[in-house]
Amino acid sequence: MMELLYEELAKKNGSQLFNIGKQIIIESIPNMQMELKEIFQQLAEDSSWVFENLTQKDTSYATHGFHKYPAKFIPQLAKRCIEENTNLNELVCDPFMGCGTTLIESLISGRKAVGVDINPVAYLISKVKTTSINPERLKKETDKVLSDLNLYSELKSKQKRLSKIEILPKIPNNDRIEYWFPDKKSREELGIILGRIEGIKDKDIRDFCLCAFSNILKNASIWLMKSIKPTRDFNKKIDSPTNLFSRQIKKMIRGNETYWNVLPTNIKNNLNSYLSIKKEDARKLPIEDNSVSLIVTSPPYVTSYEYADLHQLTALWLEYTCSVSEFREGFIGSVHKKEFDHDGIKSKLAKQEIEELSKKSKKEAEAVRNYFFEMQQCFEEMYRVLKQRGRACIVIGNTELRKVPILNAEVFVEIMLNLGFKMHKIVKRRIPSKVLPQTRDSKTGRFTAAGEADRLAYAHEYILIMEKL
Ligand SMILES: C[S@@+](CC[C@H](N)C(=O)[O-])C[C@H]1O[C@@H](n2cnc3c(N)ncnc32)[C@H](O)[C@@H]1O
Repeated sequence: MMELLYEELAKKNGSQLFNIGKQIIIESIPNMQMELKEIFQQLAEDSSWVFENLTQKDTSYATHGFHKYPAKFIPQLAKRCIEENTNLNELVCDPFMGCGTTLIESLISGRKAVGVDINPVAYLISKVKTTSINPERLKKETDKVLSDLNLYSELKSKQKRLSKIEILPKIPNNDRIEYWFPDKKSREELGIILGRIEGIKDKDIRDFCLCAFSNILKNASIWLMKSIKPTRDFNKKIDSPTNLFSRQIKKMIRGNETYWNVLPTNIKNNLNSYLSIKKEDARKLPIEDNSVSLIVTSPPYVTSYEYADLHQLTALWLEYTCSVSEFREGFIGSVHKKEFDHDGIKSKLAKQEIEELSKKSKKEAEAVRNYFFEMQQCFEEMYRVLKQRGRACIVIGNTELRKVPILNAEVFVEIMLNLGFKMHKIVKRRIPSKVLPQTRDSKTGRFTAAGEADRLAYAHEYILIMEKL
């Protein structure tokens, strides 16, 4: 279907459409953005990419369920992209690795993987989820940690002397900790858990426990659950941090065992030659030119999830930052951007959307302009690191801001064509309703009725499969 459309379009515009190199396209075909809109409008949904029948157990198998992460994609989607577009031992890259879904699936499928994310919390989670630990060693070490913590809280509740166990509590000195954890007892208990984790000598096991600790923080605080905006819930019932931590560790132990069993032995024994992950910026990838066979990624959205805000509890406890505003720097898609000079977004459609939006909100229009410009810089980097004929699978949906359609997918394709990519295939997939974040109130981040929302996410998303010429 897609190829047909693509050929028709090429004929209409004089056969060379997608084979000509950089810059020429927009100049020679003034209506390209209209043609692209037409292509997208005519695209039929491909039901084979919906994965409707998968259960939560399926999508969180192995280490995938270790940590909540906003807008992660399902492993089955990444796996299919990888298997259809690469061979064994080829290098797969995710420049917005998030919690590592692409990396894990690449390794399980016998490919090499390289991942980058600006977010230190993403780095920690991805590192832990891609490192398989010998299950016996893991059980033995975490048993020691859990039994120390249980003994500690038992003795403490009986007011007994605690001298038998030496744990130095670790509570960072930051007002925001009290803001989110007003209960002194909970704060102290978390400090004891963190103090005990820091005493673990084995780095892989220490990181494993830090990841577990990070994932319980929202539950252990007064953070309003299911909200995408940091909001406090003073009526929340909170379980003891030690119980939460213990349950989390046990769940992760089971996930690690599955991962250990499915990871190819050569990769398990020599992970460093197969995997590289870095806390870096996707606009400046620490990757050699022409070295990557495939990119599988889902970029951040504009003014949607503020990753820095959403991960502030971990960032505060693990002292990645002492200020949330400082932590936001470098994140693409954030509304909290300092003004910067930029010009030359290679998409006429983007410019139209920005103009339309600026009539409703200057601030949001500026955020969208920054977003498309920064994404363009990322696509330039993707082009540089890809091998010739290497492909990029970009998973992206469109949105609406103040009733102005923001057609991310069409804009991305227009920019990428102008950078020298050719369109290989566009998949339109319906997002199963159970995971659809359709309408939100922008103040609280809570779900709301469609008519009241000032932001709307559509029920479909696209996989843009673009090829480097
Ligand atoms: C939609 S999420 C990716 C989720 C991922 N596919 C997964 O399954 O976990 C987008 C990611 O982009 C990251 N990000 C935002 N700005 C970035 C930048 N300048 N460089 C690299 N990563 C960035 C965010 O931290 C977030 O993890």
